[in-house]
Amino acid sequence: MPTKVICIANQKGGVGKTTTAVSLAHGLALRGKQVLLIDLDPQGQVATALGRNSEPGVFYLLTMGASPQETSFVQSCIRSSGREGLYLVPGDQQTMAAQTVLNARYQPVSSIRASIQRFCKDGLHYVIFDTAPSVGGSRNGRCGRPISSSSQPPPSFCLQMGSGRSSR
Ligand SMILES: Nc1ncnc2c1ncn2[C@@H]1O[C@H](COP(=O)(O)OP(=O)(O)OP(=O)(O)O)[C@@H](O)[C@H]1O
Ligand SMILES: [Mg+2]
Repeated sequence: MPTKVICIANQKGGVGKTTTAVSLAHGLALRGKQVLLIDLDPQGQVATALGRNSEPGVFYLLTMGASPQETSFVQSCIRSSGREGLYLVPGDQQTMAAQTVLNARYQPVSSIRASIQRFCKDGLHYVIFDTAPSVGGSRNGRCGRPISSSSQPPPSFCLQMGSGRSSR
């Protein structure tokens, strides 16, 4: 099964994005799936919701290259959630600096799609992104483009999903 990528996004704040991302990830892990949560929000609340520390893992994920050494370093940023099958790449305020780095390199934020390829193997079933409440920056490029989206998004959030195959 190819790794499925799910992004929880809404430009409004406080509408339940993080709660949805963490709950969805936890529920999938309880069903025996291997799930990686990636926190693109500089508030770093995915980690705190899981009782872990905010860290600059996402900064390294977004800014480091694809050499074996850099890939190894980024993979070392994955943290256990303390729950079976559920892992996270925590974020913190440095996630904001990553946007500046990407801009300086003229590197589109859609490069996140390539960045997560280093995780999309070894039996990983889902990558779930939590995002910041804004319409710019890394939120827009979390996967490069939505591959498919729910036809009737619930009013409080937009759930965009992708599995590496276009349904459009
Ligand atoms: N389904 C729900 N029912 C009631 N309260 C909820 C629900 N989902 C989330 N909340 C509460 O709403 C508040 C905001 O939730 P959350 O932090 O998930 O929103 P967010 O969209 O991620 O916020 P931000 O934009 O600041 O990142 C929290 O106090 C959370 O406990
Ligand atoms: Mg949030």
